[in-house]
Amino acid sequence: MATLYRAIVCSLVFQHLPWTASAAKEDLRYVNPLIGTDNGGNVFAGASLPYGLAKPVADVAGQNTGGFSTDGSKVTGFSHMHDSGTGGNPSLGNFPLFPQYCADNIVDNCKFPITARAVYHNNHTVVSRPGYFALTLENGIHAEMTAAHRSALYRFTFPAKSAVNGDALDPLILLDLTDLWESRQNASIAIDPHTGRIKGNGTFLPSFGAGYYMSYFCADFAGARVRDSGIWVNDRAGSEPKELFVTRGFNNFYLQAGGWVTFDSPDSGEVTARVGISYISSDQACANAESEIPSPLDDFERLRTEAEEAWADKLSPIKITPGGVSSSMLTSFWSGIYRAMLSPQDMTGENPLWQSNEPYYDSFYCMWDQFRAQMPFLAILDPSALSRMVRSLLDTYKHEGWLPDCRMSLCKGWTQGGSNADVVLADAFVKNITGIDWDLAYKAMVNDAENEPLEWEYEGRGGLQSWKRLNYIPYLDFDYLGFGTNSRSISRTLEYSYNDYSLSVVGRGIGKKDYTKYLSRANNWQNLFKKDQTSYLENGTDTGFVGFLQPKYLNGTWGYQDPIACSALASFCSLTSNPSETFESSVWEYLFYVPHDMATLIKLLGGPESFVSRLDYFHTSGLADIGNEPVFLTVYDYHYAGRPGLSAARAHTYIPASFNASETGLPGNDDSGAMGSFLAWSMMGLFPNPGQNVYLIIPPFFEAAEITHPETNNTATIRNVNFDSSYRNIYIQNATLNGRPYTKSWIGHEFFTQGMTLELTLGETESDWGSRKEDLPPSLSDAVAGMDVHRV
Ligand SMILES: *[C@@H]1O[C@H](CO)[C@@H](O)[C@H](O)[C@H]1NC(C)=O
Ligand SMILES: *[C@@H]1O[C@H](CO)[C@@H](O)[C@H](O)[C@H]1NC(C)=O
Ligand SMILES: *[C@@H]1O[C@H](CO)[C@@H](O)[C@H](O)[C@H]1NC(C)=O
Ligand SMILES: *[C@@H]1O[C@H](CO)[C@@H](O)[C@H](O)[C@H]1NC(C)=O
Ligand SMILES: *[C@@H]1O[C@H](CO)[C@@H](O)[C@H](O)[C@H]1NC(C)=O
Ligand SMILES: *[C@@H]1O[C@H](CO)[C@@H](O)[C@H](O)[C@H]1NC(C)=O
Ligand SMILES: *[C@@H]1O[C@H](CO)[C@@H](O)[C@H](O)[C@H]1NC(C)=O
Ligand SMILES: *[C@@H]1O[C@H](CO)[C@@H](O)[C@H](O)[C@H]1NC(C)=O
Ligand SMILES: *[C@@H]1O[C@H](CO)[C@@H](O)[C@H](O)[C@H]1NC(C)=O
Repeated sequence: MATLYRAIVCSLVFQHLPWTASAAKEDLRYVNPLIGTDNGGNVFAGASLPYGLAKPVADVAGQNTGGFSTDGSKVTGFSHMHDSGTGGNPSLGNFPLFPQYCADNIVDNCKFPITARAVYHNNHTVVSRPGYFALTLENGIHAEMTAAHRSALYRFTFPAKSAVNGDALDPLILLDLTDLWESRQNASIAIDPHTGRIKGNGTFLPSFGAGYYMSYFCADFAGARVRDSGIWVNDRAGSEPKELFVTRGFNNFYLQAGGWVTFDSPDSGEVTARVGISYISSDQACANAESEIPSPLDDFERLRTEAEEAWADKLSPIKITPGGVSSSMLTSFWSGIYRAMLSPQDMTGENPLWQSNEPYYDSFYCMWDQFRAQMPFLAILDPSALSRMVRSLLDTYKHEGWLPDCRMSLCKGWTQGGSNADVVLADAFVKNITGIDWDLAYKAMVNDAENEPLEWEYEGRGGLQSWKRLNYIPYLDFDYLGFGTNSRSISRTLEYSYNDYSLSVVGRGIGKKDYTKYLSRANNWQNLFKKDQTSYLENGTDTGFVGFLQPKYLNGTWGYQDPIACSALASFCSLTSNPSETFESSVWEYLFYVPHDMATLIKLLGGPESFVSRLDYFHTSGLADIGNEPVFLTVYDYHYAGRPGLSAARAHTYIPASFNASETGLPGNDDSGAMGSFLAWSMMGLFPNPGQNVYLIIPPFFEAAEITHPETNNTATIRNVNFDSSYRNIYIQNATLNGRPYTKSWIGHEFFTQGMTLELTLGETESDWGSRKEDLPPSLSDAVAGMDVHRV
């Protein structure tokens, strides 16, 4: 997913932190969660465990989709749940706390509504580390936070009294019954005047989906005696009553309201707040907090250390030999991997929708982004977590009737293209991910392919009658079976083709005879190839390329979509903004999306040489949108034309120019770690073609990378010979696998499970390594007969 974002160029904040860590934690030093917190990356910068539900951070008034941003905007509160990198509306951020002093100790003098209370922070005070986030507000209040799995712990240090005005002021902490998007429909709060405990719940809307969800909280305070408490509505507060129910009034009017607690000014200046969260009940929120953080005053350092250890453990399968590359390259790499494990979130035990002993994961936000690089990354780094995620997808199918495509906050999210959980399942299948009921998986996939749901805007596929009868999704289809945005006929045709290919992989693997039907439907994309279609730039220049995908009506007549429409050179096309026959991407870009049969595509486009010149034009003309996921595989498509060296060269044009270690260092939404995973795979020198047992080989951006498989304990090594950190030698001259010559430009997952060693000898010029027909990555057809590859 992508949202339009106008880049703001701003100065960067570098952190120089002392670090005294054990060897195991060494690589955590290179994780900078602030990468992508400006320029539309929407990355979550706060504290979290891997796949954690609790995600505390400071929320800001500016680019707050992920809560915090380094865009310099004011802090509006500190909330406990977030998504990372997403492109819909600001996500979660429910029930923020906000600390302050009230002038003259009069509660009504405190600022309650968001705009009134918002305050700047000093950029240089921001500390963002795995498991820890801190900043100092302009009013002198220092806020620190860390996270357990379902509860957050905050430490607010109030400035010495004299720093305010010499009077003994009592700290106030408010809780706001809102979320980042102000989507609250109704909410309740109850305050215990003796303990200061605040409990409550609210109904909110998912940030990119249908329906609504309820969430619950339980906040306790420690470190200072509770002096008074109450509720507030708009900018007025009172000590009575201690309970409040708010709804939306006339014209959906949004009422700002919540609760507050004041404290006797603590000698230490510190007030600790522990917030348990739940999607089941307030009591469960309290129980989560009590079990995870039994003594809030003592637990802060323990939680922080445990979070660091959990992250160090997740990163531990990978070891890098830098070979002299800059620390900013290492930071890009490790931070990308870190972001790949913020989401999906493990909500096992917090699913109110059905009873089950299976795991429940949420924030598949969205699969369209995650299936390409992120889920495959988990297949090597954390296969047991991937297995649990896949089981959760299947359990969702069992109880809701459909595999999720995009899912957040217990709700169905909007489908962007195909039913891409199919690809996630096929990828897990070819990579031997264990613990999965493959018969159930195949049933769920066949359901996507055969049955059209009434609401295919958030599950399954639309246009299935035409798909089966005509073998393409028609332009302006006549579809009365189900309802969705009736656009994207080209991109849906391409994605459905690959989804059906994914079915055939699993079906064939488990011995289902009907796999051939899906294998045949995997060719449907060819029906939209118009061989005489030309393409002109907006100023009238002929791109010189002929043959593009085009929309086709029900009656078989061609429609028309300018091949450059929806590209980075034209206007953005999403579900709602400028809906077109391609989704968030152009005909130019989508043309390359035939992951299973690049050989046929290359043939249709006039052979390898003509294909390569088209791919080069695409990447150098501004048509490629490096800020959105459909571009990922195009960086590596040169492999299929026998030119793996050009894939390496292309990857180096984007890294670090478009992906780097600065706060503005992502070219688009990180999309739950999709961009981070693209970056990490690329730098590791292997790129997955998901759904297939294929990794495309380029030289790693480091001297060597070692990846220990967490289940077999075998270590795979990919090592460059003649590596130079200025990246002059980026072309593979020849290779060995376990010491024997290796000529293929790709390798299978056995590389990781069996722990092989791939040694790449590099040089300054492209060689013919990987150019022979028998060394190309596999294609469904084998149509590249008579290939005549020219060298540069
Ligand atoms: C903080 O950083 C932002 C963006 O880099 C900038 O606009 C703002 O002026 C900075 N504020 C301070 C106090 O330095
Ligand atoms: C809160 O809002 C939801 C969604 O509109 C509604 O279903 C529910 O009945 C409301 N709850 C109360 C207590 O009014
Ligand atoms: C929400 O919280 C209020 C106040 O504590 C409580 O009365 C109500 O039953 C809760 N609603 C749900 C659905 O738990
Ligand atoms: C049209 O735009 C392209 C790409 O920006 C440029 O290379 C070309 O010179 C332009 N042609 C004319 C006639 O302006
Ligand atoms: C096919 O349908 C389109 C759209 O309704 C129409 O413009 C076109 O003329 C039709 N072609 C034929 C051959 O009837
Ligand atoms: C870092 O990446 C951003 C986002 O793609 C880009 O705008 C910026 O120019 C890059 N910075 C450098 C120094 O390459
Ligand atoms: C891998 O190592 C772990 C930890 O040392 C051990 O528990 C496990 O049995 C090993 N697995 C295999 C397949 O050797
Ligand atoms: C690999 O390439 C290097 C550099 O071109 C060359 O020196 C070496 O002999 C080659 N090795 C093999 C096994 O072909
Ligand atoms: C998957 O398991 C099968 C059977 O044990 C084995 O033959 C195959 O090589 C494995 N594939 C991978 C990618 O590890």
